[in-house]
Amino acid sequence: MSKLPVITIDGPSGVGKGTISQLLARHLDWHFLDSGALYRLTALAARRRGIALEDSEAVGLLAAELAVRFEPVAQGEARVILDNQEVTNDIRTAQAGVDASVVAVHPSVRAALLQRQRDFAQPPGLVADGRDMGTTVFPQAQRKFFLTASARVRAERRYKQLIEKGLDANLAGLVEEIEQRDERDRNRSASPLRPADDAICIDTSEKGIEAVFAEVLAHCQDVVI
Ligand code: C5P
Repeated sequence: MSKLPVITIDGPSGVGKGTISQLLARHLDWHFLDSGALYRLTALAARRRGIALEDSEAVGLLAAELAVRFEPVAQGEARVILDNQEVTNDIRTAQAGVDASVVAVHPSVRAALLQRQRDFAQPPGLVADGRDMGTTVFPQAQRKFFLTASARVRAERRYKQLIEKGLDANLAGLVEEIEQRDERDRNRSASPLRPADDAICIDTSEKGIEAVFAEVLAHCQDVVI
């Protein structure tokens, strides 16, 4: 097992783990893996090629051959290129998130993306954000976190983000969408969403980003020295 330091941050969607992981990676000057982006990219590539998201064999093959590049633009930010086309915004839509959770149930897809995710572990270290980073992809990680928050709180956060962007939003619809996605992520047989036995669980419902980040950082002191 590699000695390269890895910190995993898992949890359901809308819990703030993307923000916390990026802040941590930037703070430590480590690499950052947004594993959800790989599932979003797989789903987008399938849609663009007219492959049914339910076709586990075809989508698994697609995931294995995904021609994707992450081009850093600013600290912690990257342009995402699929088949030589920029798709940075296309993979961020609500539909892309739902589609990602559909392809993510296929063991063929998860197996195809496994090594690709592990390849992100490069010196000086990696912060990995996802659903199964601590349980499956980096079980040997030096520190594992599992963030939670109620579906209601996560929907309210998402609602605020959409309204701030001047987009239409419906709170009840968002709660339902989040609950459905959680259900699919928790109940699939391949790498379901669950905390690793040795994960530190943090409920972010009543906490702001800064408080959660401070808590995470305090737990990482011995890893990063
Ligand atoms: O984190 P993000 O919202 O981008 O993830 C989109 C979907 O991809 C999740 O709802 C989940 O179904 C899937 N996913 C996964 N395993 C990961 C990361 C994401 O199954 N490690």
